[in-house]
Amino acid sequence: MTTGPRPHHGRDREGSGACEQTGKFDPARHFLSIADWPPDRLRSALDMAARFRLDPYWAGRPLEGRSVALVFAKSSTRTRVSFEVGIAQLGGHSVFLASRDIQLGRGEPVADTARVLSRYVQAIMIRTFSQEDVEQLARYGSIPVINGLTDFLHPCQVLADLATVEGEFPSRDLASLRVAWIGDGNNMANSWLNAAARLGFSLGLACPAGYEPDRAILDRAMASDAEVSMVRDPREVVEGADVITTDVWASMGQEEEAADRNAAFQGYTVDEELMARAAAGAIFLHCLPAHRGEEVSCGVLEGPWSRVWDQAENRLHAQKAIMTLLLG
Ligand code: CP
Ligand code: NVA
Repeated sequence: MTTGPRPHHGRDREGSGACEQTGKFDPARHFLSIADWPPDRLRSALDMAARFRLDPYWAGRPLEGRSVALVFAKSSTRTRVSFEVGIAQLGGHSVFLASRDIQLGRGEPVADTARVLSRYVQAIMIRTFSQEDVEQLARYGSIPVINGLTDFLHPCQVLADLATVEGEFPSRDLASLRVAWIGDGNNMANSWLNAAARLGFSLGLACPAGYEPDRAILDRAMASDAEVSMVRDPREVVEGADVITTDVWASMGQEEEAADRNAAFQGYTVDEELMARAAAGAIFLHCLPAHRGEEVSCGVLEGPWSRVWDQAENRLHAQKAIMTLLLG
């Protein structure tokens, strides 16, 4: 396992050596958040992901002669492997960098790392703690940055989840579907909210008090054309939902809160009884890794509703679409 002590974050590092600087960046050149891409670009990404699922090589070799740095400050199975394999399938080369092994882990500023990596590689994928660090990379680098998970967002995963949903409901418009999020208002929940706001599907969240999603993201989603609600009782949002999804109760970096969280999330397990309330033909999604018997019962994860292995596969297709759009 990963993480050990939390590494420095951008602000600390800036304070510990780099000169204060400000810079602007164009969010559309990167993939830091689903909220940064207009609906038509997200639509293109989903269409391209569906094509990659049918034919891994339909786009040719858009990354031929290009290198992508994969920076990880947290553990990963799916993100690491799907990016490495996806880059290879697109004709490119990946450079895996565990942040504790590079100078970043010893406090070299993100801003300096961004400018140095920009001289060697053509894009950076980063998984780290602070969203601000990811924005710093985009601000100071001159190449596209892809967010491979922060404490705040997990946009690549939710794009893959949307690709999974579209694969499962080919005759339904995405905007006609009802999604239920059960459990922690975490990075995944925030990205689902951004997706609902952008693409207009209905999203109901059931989260215990004190574990709601980011207030600004929730408000923005509620003000959008999408039907978005937040309640306490999971049964309310599952009623008639087409997609039921959840995530671990303690995310990476929250290991010390696990006991408190375990207590707070009692009653939020997605089990067979809860799934029975969903719409006919409903599916279950989980970004994985899953804790059987906590946020999901073994029977649901392994049962007929579950599409979690397709969902994991779709990481590969969705990320190839993102990289082709940003670099192709
Ligand atoms: N779902 C997901 O991001 O998995 P990893 O942590 O294994 O990358
Ligand atoms: N919310 C989880 C997702 C893991 C892919 C975490 O941040 O650890």
